[in-house]
Amino acid sequence: MKKVQLRLGSNSYDIDIGPGILKQSGRQLKESGFADRLVIITNPIVNNLYGDTIGRSLAAEGFTVTTLTIPDGEEQKSLEAAGRLYHELAECYAERTTPILALGGGVIGDLAGFVAATYLRGVPLIQVPTTLLAQVDSSIGGKVALDHDRLKNKIGAFYQPRLVISDIDTIKTLGDKQFTDGLAEVIKYGVIQDEGFFTYLENNLDRIKLLDTETLEEVVFRSAEIKAGVVEKDEKDLGLRAILNFGHTVGHAIESVSDFKVSHGEAVAIGMLAAARISRRMSILTQNELSRLEGLIKRAGLPTGLPDPGIEKLVSAMKQDKKVLKGKLRFVLPESLGKVFITDEVNLSLVEQALIG
Ligand code: NAD
Ligand code: GLY
Repeated sequence: MKKVQLRLGSNSYDIDIGPGILKQSGRQLKESGFADRLVIITNPIVNNLYGDTIGRSLAAEGFTVTTLTIPDGEEQKSLEAAGRLYHELAECYAERTTPILALGGGVIGDLAGFVAATYLRGVPLIQVPTTLLAQVDSSIGGKVALDHDRLKNKIGAFYQPRLVISDIDTIKTLGDKQFTDGLAEVIKYGVIQDEGFFTYLENNLDRIKLLDTETLEEVVFRSAEIKAGVVEKDEKDLGLRAILNFGHTVGHAIESVSDFKVSHGEAVAIGMLAAARISRRMSILTQNELSRLEGLIKRAGLPTGLPDPGIEKLVSAMKQDKKVLKGKLRFVLPESLGKVFITDEVNLSLVEQALIG
């Protein structure tokens, strides 16, 4: 098992990463001193796959467990779903010391995290992410949120978990598309901070796609390390943390204009490449670096552009995004592979050209 320590003073926590570690989660929680009654929030798909494994491990260490399931899907990141969970938590007499364990992908993590942050003004949160995206991104860093008024993540908080348990084996039951989607965020980490990791991904992509355990463990570990490092420096997203949005200015616009038919990972892949093309046109990124990023995205099975980008709609969606500052589009651009910078000085015509290809 590998461990990343996210250091945030009294809000510090460990991120445990390894194959089969769900089976040891009971012992881990016991050793970490959590109260012996806890509530799991999950969905029926994940519960069918992993509910028994985690339930047995917790029972063996004397935990009393209540499992609350919510239906699958992004639409559950809602005040209505949170309200139902508050009600069920009260019905099972959850107290301030009762931990909530979020078992699932980013949707469960964000919803259960929001409920943990707000129920009784905050109960301990344990993240047990079961998708690649959740293991490398959403379970780390304490952003918890609900969607509201058709706007994603509109209501939320910074609420750090007490522990993250990432069992690599859970990635192996994901659908192909779900897995490939997570790879976009993995590639992002290489570009924003670590050329060595980018090269590692280039050299090991075949093993990653074959779901080789050791390689996946390394991928999740290095991604978690990079994200934790950024969060440690800027927990509340006041500066540096914005680099995690590399590819997301264009990406979010694509998701929104396509009415979420283009998935998040696909949109981020196209967005990362658009940002790289902008940087190339500004004579910052080299042609070789741009080609390497395009090559890795293609090999990962992610798209490099849109058949019909609908530039006007995309630009208008970008202008409505959270990342607009004082009316200017804010971009995270690669300076090289492994280093990015934030700018709001990107000429609109460059953005349009980058979207065309
Ligand atoms: P998801 O949670 O919807 O999971 C995707 C699908 O996979 C679901 O159908 C789920 O039931 C299923 N699933 C989960 N684990 C599985 C497993 N091991 N095997 C088989 N199926 C499994 O989607 P996601 O991509 O994990 O997360 C997306 C969400 O994360 C979005 O709501 C996004 O806003 C949020 N997010 C949050 C942050 C953050 O910092 N809080 C960062 C990135 C994304
Ligand atoms: N997913 C972006 C962040 O955590 O800041």
